[in-house]
Amino acid sequence: MISKNGSKHVVAEADNLVIRCASPNEIDRIVEIYLHVVQGEYISHGEVLDGITRDFHSQAPDLCKQKTEEFCSIISGQETEKSILVALEKSEVIGFLFGGIERNTREGAPLVASIYDLGVMESYRGHGIGRKLMEAFIRWAREKGAIWVFFESGVNNKNAHRLFHKLGFTLTSHVFMMPLDESLAMPDKLE
Ligand SMILES: CC(C)(COP(=O)(O)OP(=O)(O)OC[C@H]1O[C@@H](n2cnc3c(N)ncnc32)[C@H](O)[C@@H]1OP(=O)(O)O)[C@@H](O)C(=O)NCCC(=O)NCCS
Repeated sequence: MISKNGSKHVVAEADNLVIRCASPNEIDRIVEIYLHVVQGEYISHGEVLDGITRDFHSQAPDLCKQKTEEFCSIISGQETEKSILVALEKSEVIGFLFGGIERNTREGAPLVASIYDLGVMESYRGHGIGRKLMEAFIRWAREKGAIWVFFESGVNNKNAHRLFHKLGFTLTSHVFMMPLDESLAMPDKLE
C-alpha cells in the first residue's frame, strides 16, 4: 500500500513493514547489511570492475570506508539521481536497495535505471521484502523518466533470479571473462 499519511519519505507501508528513503543515521546499518551480503554468489563482474574484489573471494581492505563514504554522499543529497531505499520492521533496518539513473550525453540516448545493490537480512527473506524494495525503486525510476531498468547478478545467485523473473525481468546478456594473471583462478564452475 502506498503511504497516504503525508510522511515525506515513506514510499510504501504494509503490515509492520515500511519502505522509505534512507536517513543519514542509518548509513552504518546499511553498510553492515551490504558487507554481510557481498560475498559468495553475490559477487559478479560488477564487483571486480568496482574494485570491491580482485579474485571473487577477498574484499578490498577499505571496503567499509569506501561504501560508507559512497552511501553518505547519496543520502546527504549530493547525488540526486541515486537512491538508497531501506526496509524497516519495527524501526529496524532489515534490508536496502541502492540504485540510480544512468545519464548518457549521446543525443537521443534513453534514460535507464540500474540497481547496484540489494540485500535483505537472512531471517527476513522470503516474505516479499526484496520485492517491495524493487517495486519502490521501479516507481522512483519511472518518476525520473527512465524507460529501462537493469540489474546485473552473478549466474549462481538463483534465489535472487527467481525474484527478478517474478517481477518481470528477463535475461538480456551474458558476461564472459578469463583471468590474465596466473595468480587468479576462475570462480567455481559457472553455468
Ligand atoms: C535476493 C534477496 C534480496 C531477496 O529478498 P527477499 O526479501 O527474500 O525476496 P522476496 O521475499 O521479495 O522474494 C522472494 C522470492 O524470491 C525467491 N527467494 C529469494 N530468496 C529467497 C529465500 N531466501 N527463501 C525463499 N525464497 C527466496 C522466491 O522465489 C520468492 O518468491 P515467492 O515468495 O513467490 O516464493 C535476498 O535473498 C538477499 O538479500 N540475498 C542476498 C543478497 C543478494 O543476492 N542480492 C541480490 C544481488 S543480485
